[in-house]
Amino acid sequence: MRAQVAIIGAGPAGLLLGELLALAGIETVIVEQKSRAYVESRVRAGVLEQGTVGLFDKLGISARLHAQGLVHNGFQIAVRGQLHRIDLHALTGKSVVVYGQTEVTRDLIAARLAAGRPILFEAADVAIRNLDGPDIGNTRPHLTFMRDGQSQHLDCDFIAGCDGFHGVSRPTIPAALLPTCERVYPFAWLGILAEVAPCSPELIYARHRNGFALASMRSNTRSRYYIQCGPDEKLDDWPDERLWDELRRRLGPEAAAGMTTGPAIEKSIAPLRSFVAEPMQYGRLFLAGDAAHIVPPTGAKGLNLAASDAYYLSEAIARHYRDGSRDALAQYSDTALRRVWKAERFSWWMTGLLHKLYDEQSFEARMQTAELDYLFGSRAARTVLAENYVGLPY
Ligand code: APR
Ligand code: PHB
Repeated sequence: MRAQVAIIGAGPAGLLLGELLALAGIETVIVEQKSRAYVESRVRAGVLEQGTVGLFDKLGISARLHAQGLVHNGFQIAVRGQLHRIDLHALTGKSVVVYGQTEVTRDLIAARLAAGRPILFEAADVAIRNLDGPDIGNTRPHLTFMRDGQSQHLDCDFIAGCDGFHGVSRPTIPAALLPTCERVYPFAWLGILAEVAPCSPELIYARHRNGFALASMRSNTRSRYYIQCGPDEKLDDWPDERLWDELRRRLGPEAAAGMTTGPAIEKSIAPLRSFVAEPMQYGRLFLAGDAAHIVPPTGAKGLNLAASDAYYLSEAIARHYRDGSRDALAQYSDTALRRVWKAERFSWWMTGLLHKLYDEQSFEARMQTAELDYLFGSRAARTVLAENYVGLPY
């Protein structure tokens, strides 16, 4: 088999990259270790920046997104039971769209398969071969993998490592040439998805003395909630009733009054981490999305960063095939990382602002209170929050 670009991973980064490259007339093959059903049922975040929505528009696959996605012009921050609105639209002229990553993935897979572009699902032991050093040289790499009990070989000009945090792409790069930067937070998010109406028309981020909570949604009939919990807590510690009680407590009386509870469709605990590996390129291998960086979910930047990486990488590769230049390819990592680091900063800041980090009388806890007070009293401070939340320009 041969493709101009071999893409490892059919998550948002790999799928978007594949469609953006197709628009530029570039052939790709996506190699994915899981089944289509598995990829399409993974529950992840669900807030799209305007820039991400713009990519779907450009690809002509945004009909369902616009029909079913919920446009949000603001969100709420709950502190001591009181709601404070961040009016995204008034502060920035922009809004976000609430549309699950699960749906994003389904739309991208449907469009790709309908156009006859291959996704090789259930590919095992994917390995990157023939990368010969950090520079973009002339030697072509290839992929090997097992599929249907047969060993396969995929020749290509470039490889896009879009295989998430636990993929093979990043570890293929010699560790000495790939410095990483990491913060593991001393808490996790316990998430619940339930077929009930949301408690509020807008998302509510709560800072409470028991810890953070978030009321989000997937549609007008499906809610997604999270609470901060200890990194070692188990799902068994959190029967549904305990979780709903704690959500009501942390989100405050107004949200509690509007809250409908119901059985969990999905419930999981995820650790919070900030992580960046740089550069996002080694020879003819380019990393995009979670393969190169992780943000904590506060602020919902993970999927949107996967989208901006896919955009930058598609532009660089398209320019290379247009004019033979390697400059844009060589600059991809710096270009993408500038936006990545700003989103890392924002996600880290929003995590620190809203989570229980210390004892309520500690200096740091008082700093959180003062910062929130400042935020609610200053349009300038809210504008900084809002322009990051709706997404920095590409
Ligand atoms: N071989 C082939 N495919 C692999 C391998 C491998 N060795 N390892 C992982 N994959 C696949 C995974 O099964 C998954 O489908 O790569 C894909 C990576 O997708 P994501 O983890 O969704 O990562 P990305 O596309 O970068 O999207 C980032 O997803 O994790 C969320 O919150 C994150 O919203 C962010 C977004
Ligand atoms: C979600 O709906 O899953 C979600 C929303 C906003 C966040 C994080 C997650 O900041």
